[in-house]
Amino acid sequence: MGSQYYLTTPIYYVNDEPHLGHAYTTVAADALARYMRLRGEDVFFLTGTDEHGQKVERAARERGERPIELADRMVDRFKALWRRLGISNDDFIRTTEDRHKRATQLFFQKIYERGDIYKGTYEGWYCTPCETFIPETQMEEGNICPDCGRPTERLKEESYFFRMSKYQGALLDHIEKHPDFIQPITRRNEIVSFVERGLKDLSISRTSFSWGIPVPGDPRHVMYVWVDALANYITAAGYGQDPERFARYWPANLHLIGKDILRFHAVYWPTLLMAADLQIPEKVFGHGWWTVEGRKMSKSVRNVVEPNRLMDEFGVDAFRYFLLREVPFGLDGDFSRAALIGRINGDLANDLGNLFSRVLAMVDRYQKGMLAGPKEPSGPLSSGAREMTEEVRRLMMEGMAFHRALGRIWDFIGEMNRFVDEKAPWVLSRDKERKGELEGVLNDLGEGLRVVALHLAAFMPGTAKAMWSQLGLPGTPEEQVGEDLWRWGVQQGVREIRKGEALFPRIEKEVAQVGGGSPAPAAEKSGSAGSVKEGALKISIDEFARLDLRVAKVLSADSITGSKKLIKLEVDLGGERRTLLAGIAQTHKPQDLVGKKVIVVANLQPAKLMGIESQGMVLAAVADEKNIVLVVPEGDIPPGTRVK
Ligand code: MSP
Repeated sequence: MGSQYYLTTPIYYVNDEPHLGHAYTTVAADALARYMRLRGEDVFFLTGTDEHGQKVERAARERGERPIELADRMVDRFKALWRRLGISNDDFIRTTEDRHKRATQLFFQKIYERGDIYKGTYEGWYCTPCETFIPETQMEEGNICPDCGRPTERLKEESYFFRMSKYQGALLDHIEKHPDFIQPITRRNEIVSFVERGLKDLSISRTSFSWGIPVPGDPRHVMYVWVDALANYITAAGYGQDPERFARYWPANLHLIGKDILRFHAVYWPTLLMAADLQIPEKVFGHGWWTVEGRKMSKSVRNVVEPNRLMDEFGVDAFRYFLLREVPFGLDGDFSRAALIGRINGDLANDLGNLFSRVLAMVDRYQKGMLAGPKEPSGPLSSGAREMTEEVRRLMMEGMAFHRALGRIWDFIGEMNRFVDEKAPWVLSRDKERKGELEGVLNDLGEGLRVVALHLAAFMPGTAKAMWSQLGLPGTPEEQVGEDLWRWGVQQGVREIRKGEALFPRIEKEVAQVGGGSPAPAAEKSGSAGSVKEGALKISIDEFARLDLRVAKVLSADSITGSKKLIKLEVDLGGERRTLLAGIAQTHKPQDLVGKKVIVVANLQPAKLMGIESQGMVLAAVADEKNIVLVVPEGDIPPGTRVK
């Protein structure tokens, strides 16, 4: 049996709803898996869920359910999201499965028998209300727990330890001999200096909670969640249960992870594997971290980006494209709706979508909808296509440079757009003598679009499929895997195109503003008096319902030093106090606002202006800068009342 390309994402904690960050790692891994399969590689792509540990145990208790019930519920959420995002994983592992429990216990046992696990005492700062040890590095001054703000106490707990210190030299040696093991290179250097500072033995069991995999022969202890979690990669490969399968799959070729969990994958994991006498994965790639409009994504700031919401609004493929195109893979990036909409309107609707519909319309008009393969194997677009194909291959397989690969595909799309303009098929069509030339141009364009669709199958599978079918090609790219598929001109014979819907409708500005994104305090944006534009884009009642409009009472109002326009308001939103910034300083005096009831958009993403966070937006009718009128409730009604 041949070898496999074994590729993994991290397994995701079930105590959080899936969000943008989870989608990022998974979509990136999926694009790579799909690309490799199209290249004829035998890919095994694994993702799953990390379900044990004190946090899950506690979250379940707070909800009055069993940990496994919570996990089951959340696993459904993750699986549904992956299905919708078109994730093509070959296996989905849950750490609560029996196969995982068996493999992990065997792994532990093996290291124990080889003498690298011993029993000792773990001493640390313990927060009793949170029932957890707090690492010194996270503790607040005065030994205060960073989570609940209460004092911690010094406690000792019996624990098993992994003799990680013993592997310091071997790990450094491995990293040196395998320069590609940790990527990107900057992260590799960070890990090397961390290891050089000295590895300590690692406490790998707990007795303070029970939601975990019991230590073999000593079930009072459950395994440290990271040992349990990391072992998922060998479980799914068949460790201890299917030696033939394990030999074929292990070592993994790539663990694709975020930079935050690199230390676990590049230090703990390889040393544990060495201790268990197992091979070390070929590569660990730590990608960057997304912020949202300049801020860390967090529940408390209420700026967590939910992939489902974005997909409702913009579609699956636009979201996938944006994730991989916007930020150099490996670096941190910032998410904003404006950037997403910019990509959709520019790259997708304009560059790709227009090219595609223009070419198909011309094939329809000038060739009665019939396309053939290119006549000349070395036609004008062929070398551009070949170079692009080769470069994308290198960027994907060697460097995981998704953004550059997409950029390269778009260079070729640009070349095709220029080719259309230069050749002007509409001019050729007026001259009977030039019929052959016109045919050549359109068939070359058809082949160029086939090659583009093939490349996009990894990134935007739905779009690629639609293009493939509209181009009149048989089946899907995935069904025709093989080196031939990538060759210019391989598609010969005459076929009929099947023109369909536009690939990417433009996002109109009106829609772009619904549901928020970047907040616009009243009157900060120039409005104008006048009638509603004819043909302005309509929104559905569901879209409108996503706005959370509430009555709010102004508790205090202050002008802001350095700002001519903004006033800072403290409002009562029915039991909740919020700070809002309103751009009404030129028309309103702060003291006149106190006690007034206004209408606010309560679910707008917060944003910082003049160093102050605005947590919503006050509604006002804005004729011009000097004529702004606040929208107020007609009668007396309590703050917090919903406006609909
Ligand atoms: N359960 C561990 C992993 C165990 S693997 C043996 C874990 N899970 S997690 O649910 O927190 O998700 C981790 C993945 O999501 C990481 O790859 C992480 O980098 C990614 N992201 C979570 N938030 C992110 C951003 N804001 N931006 C980019 N990726 C981020 O850690």
